[in-house]
Amino acid sequence: MRCDQTPAWRALQAHANNFQGFDLREAFRSDAQRLAALSQTAPHVFADLSKNHTDAATEALLLALAEQTGLVQHRDAMFRGEPINNTEGRAVMHWLLRQPPSAARTVRAELVEALAQVHTTLDAMLAYAEQIRADAQITDVVNIGIGGSDLGPQMAVRALQDFVVPGKRFHFVSNVDGHELAAVLQDLRPENTLFLIASKTFTTLETMTNARSALAWFKAQGGLDVGRHFAALTTNVAAAAEFGIETTFGFWDWVGGRYSMWSAIGLPVAMAIGAAGFRQLLAGAHAMDQHFQSAPLAQNLPVRLGLLDVWYRNFLGYTSRSIAPYHSALRRVPAYLQQLEMESNGKRVDRHGQPLPYGTSPVLWGEPGTNGQHAYFQMLHQGTDVVPLEFIAVKKPTHRLKDHHELLLANAIAQAQALMLGQPDEGGHKHFTGNRPSTFLLLDELTPASLGALIALQEHRVFVSGAVWGINSFDQWGVELGKVLARDIHARIVSGDAAGLDASTAALLARVRD
Ligand code: F6P
Repeated sequence: MRCDQTPAWRALQAHANNFQGFDLREAFRSDAQRLAALSQTAPHVFADLSKNHTDAATEALLLALAEQTGLVQHRDAMFRGEPINNTEGRAVMHWLLRQPPSAARTVRAELVEALAQVHTTLDAMLAYAEQIRADAQITDVVNIGIGGSDLGPQMAVRALQDFVVPGKRFHFVSNVDGHELAAVLQDLRPENTLFLIASKTFTTLETMTNARSALAWFKAQGGLDVGRHFAALTTNVAAAAEFGIETTFGFWDWVGGRYSMWSAIGLPVAMAIGAAGFRQLLAGAHAMDQHFQSAPLAQNLPVRLGLLDVWYRNFLGYTSRSIAPYHSALRRVPAYLQQLEMESNGKRVDRHGQPLPYGTSPVLWGEPGTNGQHAYFQMLHQGTDVVPLEFIAVKKPTHRLKDHHELLLANAIAQAQALMLGQPDEGGHKHFTGNRPSTFLLLDELTPASLGALIALQEHRVFVSGAVWGINSFDQWGVELGKVLARDIHARIVSGDAAGLDASTAALLARVRD
């Protein structure tokens, strides 16, 4: 049943009306169990949800909503390998990439062959990663890809910087803007460089343009052995061969682009942190998959977060969520999560194509703390909009610099406290209302395993809200129109033909051609 037609939705609407006077400070005063009830341990992640605008009654109603919208059935359909990406007729099985070989005993018979292929490819890709790690001549690895073929591996290589093999530099080129590729190439030598052309489809304009330019640069600089210096990561093995690439690691159409860092798209990560590290990344994600599949919904962290997202978006009217990783290595996490949430759930129709009368994906944004505190936290504390903030902090640092980490963690905790407590007794400009919501995610250490768990947690929370909203979280038709029009405008920039264009577009065309 569509979520807004369920009894639980109506009950939540009534509940939201009563909730208008909700005050976090009062909620803690009146309920000694609040922290315990709203804390959740999941593999590698501790979550404090207690500073959110929610309570036991709200969570109970949200669980009823999950039940009435068939969340569990939808989750189980994904884990059975059913084609829940219905608009593309595909299964959604990024989770299969994280299953250990021993899972062959437990997966459905239909998936045993797919799992065998996953491990054959994984073993080959990890062997290649080790070969490159041992190859002292290759000092620079350049990943050319965009969207899911860039954000995941880039985020993970940066996050795991302490595990990265010495003597190798990892570059990520995504934009069709030649300034990006040119800036990377100027420091490289062909004999020391390995290009990874990462594209699920091997047709994406940006990636193909950058790949062609990289190949032209390589040859122009005297590079000889294309076979040794280029590899492809793609589902379109034929197109990679046509491009002239001999070494290709494949994956499958049931891996969505933004869910693909666990596949061959993760090759730069494997090169950076090694085969054992990559297996730990997968194992951490797998542990979160198991938690999502088996923990009771009331104690299931992705479910609790995803339902909280629905509550905020549809009942309390909060239209965005800010992400604050208090760890500089996690600096690309907000960008990664933007694609994950907004490309998955930024949909205005349900999975059958019917327009929806309620809001879906929130706007996601953020920067690492403490930098954000000196930029936009002003608005979070005293602005007119309530923006739930999600802290991501790591208990143990890997550096030995005195004082820094305590100061970093103190700031994260203090910000969460300040948002909640405010400064209600002060007047005028010094008045902080407080009662501003936040979630605090805490990892013990930032390791391949904990990063895997953190990212799988985010994937599944996006699944949960998308399932409740009844949308297909696994297609992305909204990016197609721009691609088509860009081809047309490109031809017009070359030819100067402005026939049939609107006045604004025609004038911009004339200006850039001038
Ligand atoms: O433009 C959207 C998109 O299709 C993303 O979903 C995807 O991650 C990205 O482009 C890159 O696609 P590909 O890996 O096929 O080059």
